[in-house]
Amino acid sequence: MISGALKFGSVELRQLKKRDARKLQSLLVKDRAWLSPWEATTPGIRYPVDARDLVSNLLYQQRKGTGLAFIIEVDGQLAGQINVANILYGSVSSASVGYWIGKDYAGRGAMPIAVALTIDHLFDEKHLHRVEIDIRPENGASLRVVEKLGLREEGLKERFIHIDGQWRDHRIFAITSEERKGSMLARLENTHSQ
Ligand SMILES: CC(C)(COP(=O)(O)OP(=O)(O)OC[C@H]1O[C@@H](n2cnc3c(N)ncnc32)[C@H](O)[C@@H]1OP(=O)(O)O)[C@@H](O)C(=O)NCCC(=O)NCCS
Repeated sequence: MISGALKFGSVELRQLKKRDARKLQSLLVKDRAWLSPWEATTPGIRYPVDARDLVSNLLYQQRKGTGLAFIIEVDGQLAGQINVANILYGSVSSASVGYWIGKDYAGRGAMPIAVALTIDHLFDEKHLHRVEIDIRPENGASLRVVEKLGLREEGLKERFIHIDGQWRDHRIFAITSEERKGSMLARLENTHSQ
């Protein structure tokens, strides 16, 4: 859960709620072709998009303390999602961030802001030490997001995640709290002004 507002300009992150399922369903169906090349799948299972299952699963992970689920709003409209998974505390204190935005909202710089707000939240409020983002080498748009944020590349994990029906290689990007130096939002603004 988030206490204060996670907001910058026209982009706001808010807690995912059960009642978001209907709007998410229509966006996920409308943008099927845009999203499916990058969507996690379960080996051996083919099923239609069911946002209710997706929302239930994310809220379950959040209740267990292993995940966080946010809706991204752009100009007050539900535009996409950013989720935190695999949260570990203690001697690891790390988590992974995944995201998507609807096609109509792409290219406005919303996701770099959403990721910056999320990483700042994970370091400042959850006191994690490391945040990871895993990206298929073919996903140029997502690679730009981590480039804009200046995340460090750690290497390639072969056949790491089942995406769009197959095990896919992923490039691993990360940042630790020592590397952040100021807020991620400030870092983002700096890379823009260079
Ligand atoms: C990857 C993604 C989250 C980027 O979000 P965004 O808010 O559009 O991010 P930005 O506005 O910073 O754009 C990033 C890059 O996307 C590309 N892009 C911009 N508009 C685009 C459009 N309409 N269609 C396709 N790509 C576009 C550009 O290469 C851009 O880089 P640039 O700013 O240097 O030109 C978004 O494209 C998306 O949700 N894609 C589908 C799902 C996905 O790939 N999720 C991530 C899995 S790791």
